Amino acid sequence: MTAIPHRPIGRTGLTVPELGFGAASLGNLYAPVSDADARGAIDAALAAGLRYVDTAPHYGRGLSERRVGEAVRLQPDVVISTKVGRLMDPDPSVTDDRERDGFRSPMPFRMRYDYSHDGILRSHEHSLQRLGVARVDLLYVHDIGGYTHGDAAGGYWQQLTTGGGLKALERLRDEGSIAGFGVGVNEIQVCLDVMQEARLDAILLAGRYTLLEQNALDALFPACAAAGTSIVIGGPYNSGILATGTKRGGTLHYDYGPAPETVVAKVRGIEAVADRHGVRLPAAALAFVLAHPQVASVIPGIGSAARVAQTVELYREAIPAAFWQELRAAGLLRADAPVPEDAA
Ligand SMILES: NC(=O)c1ccc[n+]([C@@H]2O[C@H](COP(=O)([O-])OP(=O)(O)OC[C@H]3O[C@@H](n4cnc5c(N)ncnc54)[C@H](OP(=O)(O)O)[C@@H]3O)[C@@H](O)[C@H]2O)c1
Repeated sequence: MTAIPHRPIGRTGLTVPELGFGAASLGNLYAPVSDADARGAIDAALAAGLRYVDTAPHYGRGLSERRVGEAVRLQPDVVISTKVGRLMDPDPSVTDDRERDGFRSPMPFRMRYDYSHDGILRSHEHSLQRLGVARVDLLYVHDIGGYTHGDAAGGYWQQLTTGGGLKALERLRDEGSIAGFGVGVNEIQVCLDVMQEARLDAILLAGRYTLLEQNALDALFPACAAAGTSIVIGGPYNSGILATGTKRGGTLHYDYGPAPETVVAKVRGIEAVADRHGVRLPAAALAFVLAHPQVASVIPGIGSAARVAQTVELYREAIPAAFWQELRAAGLLRADAPVPEDAA
């Protein structure tokens, strides 16, 4: 089996495998994952060459970071990204694993946003302790912007800019404590805004460049090409619907909630083309984003060893050129979105 190719991250000198591991699932996102299954998933991922792991303090209020750290600690050449912007305050009232902020985690903490200079330095230190590692490679400013904060976004923006948050990240990068930093968000405009304030090495863009939507081609990707900023694609299945398709029963998931009918209709259209060409929808979802030269890695959410094996198989699936041509001709894909055949 050929190794998974690596791609550079900005100007950091760091490379990451183009298929990485999104560890939100290991924080018990929506459903509990046992310690054994979590360990099995990440061990299988590392063995298969998915040696870029993305985690965050938010993912199960520290649970994902603890699990990732246990698995990667003695492993060479694993690139780790985690995030800043949320601090975990002790909360003795948490005594069960009922869902809080989307996670079924028993970790007794309460999340507090803090994008200030001191908040970011503290968050970085806390992450090293929870992971039990001496260094993380990349830090993403997590969920800055109106998508998460609504009317409160302005205050957090002040913390990050005039409040010295970005200065703290520049300091960590300048002194070599991290290789690079960027933002990890679900919206495009805030990426452009932060790029006006600092030189970003990478942007973790979740759900906003997928088989379903390509608006990032308008301004963001050209700006990243000009600035030397790499893109890591989070949420490549838009939370599930591009992995499951529309034909199974039950709720179809799109962007952390039930899929709206317009989205279901578009996925049905893509699915019909995929069926005609014998292509599996999630295989197309992974191959599509990797065809863009600005994209360094795609990190689907994976919660079990079986899912790792299935994901690697999907990643390696051969997709006929006629599939992409038909998607374009049917108006289901923007004509200017690169597809794997363009690079061949
Ligand atoms: N703001 C940010 O920085 C941000 C935001 C979102 C995501 N991210 C990153 O991106 C990663 C991935 O995002 P995500 O987990 O939210 O979304 P995603 O990868 O788009 O979707 C994950 C969902 O797809 C399902 N799935 C995965 N592979 C499947 C398959 N082969 N067949 C059927 N279903 C499959 C999973 O189901 P199961 O649960 O059954 O496996 C899970 O519910 C995260 O772990 C995180 O690292 C970052």
